[in-house]
Amino acid sequence: MPHIKLLNIVGARPQIIKSSAISRAIHTKFSNDITEILLHTGQHYDKELSEVFFDELEIHRPDYNLGVGSAGHGRQTALMITGIEEVLLKEKPDGVLLYGDTNSTLAGALAASKLHFAVIHIEAGLRSFNKTMPEELNRIISDHSSTLLFAPTNAAFKNLMSEGFRPENSPPYTIDNPKIYLTGDIMYDNMLFFAALAEKKKTRFLEQLSLGRDNYILVTIHRDTNTDDFERLKKILATLKNLAEERSVTLVMPFHPRTITSLRTNLPDFYNDLRECGFIKIIPPVSYLEMILLEKNCKIIVTDSGGVQKESHFFKKPCIVLRKETEWIELVINGTTVLVDADPVMINNEFVRLMDSHSELKYPGFYGDGKTAEFILKEILLMLQ
Ligand code: UD1
Ligand code: UDP
Repeated sequence: MPHIKLLNIVGARPQIIKSSAISRAIHTKFSNDITEILLHTGQHYDKELSEVFFDELEIHRPDYNLGVGSAGHGRQTALMITGIEEVLLKEKPDGVLLYGDTNSTLAGALAASKLHFAVIHIEAGLRSFNKTMPEELNRIISDHSSTLLFAPTNAAFKNLMSEGFRPENSPPYTIDNPKIYLTGDIMYDNMLFFAALAEKKKTRFLEQLSLGRDNYILVTIHRDTNTDDFERLKKILATLKNLAEERSVTLVMPFHPRTITSLRTNLPDFYNDLRECGFIKIIPPVSYLEMILLEKNCKIIVTDSGGVQKESHFFKKPCIVLRKETEWIELVINGTTVLVDADPVMINNEFVRLMDSHSELKYPGFYGDGKTAEFILKEILLMLQ
């Protein structure tokens, strides 16, 4: 079998974690067939949003780091495209692997497709049907620049079909004749692999935070709609703070630096109130193994994150989503995830309902068999040779 070279592009926290599933499968099953080159755009650069994952998850170290850092969408994406283009021309890979929906995904898709490199999109087909989200534009453009599209869910696969992608296309596949697949989710592979490791490696983590099984709520907030609209951010957090005090329950908040910056800058007095509240623990972003422990042992998850919503399902925890819509619609249909937007009444009602609920919720296997990365790599090998 001829050997292929893949350029793996990451930039933001969830992509670094996702790419570990692919790196691990290359390393364990395909090291004779695939050479991986890892490009980090540098979109995330703080240790807790980037380096911690390379250390902890034994991911292939970046061969290139563009170091683009933070900037407005246009400048950030343009810097990434310029840097990725140079690497593409130098490395001439057989395919370019992209994950999810960040500006790093978009830049990879535009740079690669314009130079006629095959784009492979993992987590294709997800849609919020809200184009005011930067991620929605990134998803649509990346999917329509791709040659191989791996949709993680039935809903994502159907979205691709309704945008004109045809499952009956036959090889050779190109950007004009792309191939769509229904796979599972590589983050489910990761959960299965890392959950046991988290227990072994982080034995004292929960104890150090004075947390015990089922006695706290995990909260993450980082979406621009929630962080940049500080009235909205205040409404959400004030509602949660009241609930924590009324119910005497601890809220653990590993916040993205974006959220902390907004609180510090726009709501300094309120930020102090939060920090002084005995039921609230605002902590820096945690590592993935630590996050697994927080998710696995909490009572409820409150989040606006895509990845954390899905992980709530993996760990069989009900999830309150601080958004109007979600790409992981099967979770809402299943009744284990509820969308509350930033509505205090809805946040209150759902929080109380889920805290007091004793009925057994069901968490069907929506996300594959835990071997999705292997399946994806097998298909890439078949299609790109
Ligand atoms: C990005 C993705 C989002 C994803 C999230 C995962 C886009 C448009 N958004 O959002 O889809 O859910 O990553 O976490 O690609 N910052 C730091 N340190 C860092 C990185 C960022 O402090 O290492 C701060 C900066 O103030 C920056 C802000 O966070 O301006 C936003 O960073 P950016 O990468 O633009 O978007 P995220 O909100 O992280
Ligand atoms: N995560 C983490 N530490 C944290 C918060 C999140 O390791 O402090 C992980 C989380 O377990 C999930 C991923 O980061 O795997 C989700 O990333 P994020 O919420 O930043 O982005 P999204 O999934 O919304 O794009």
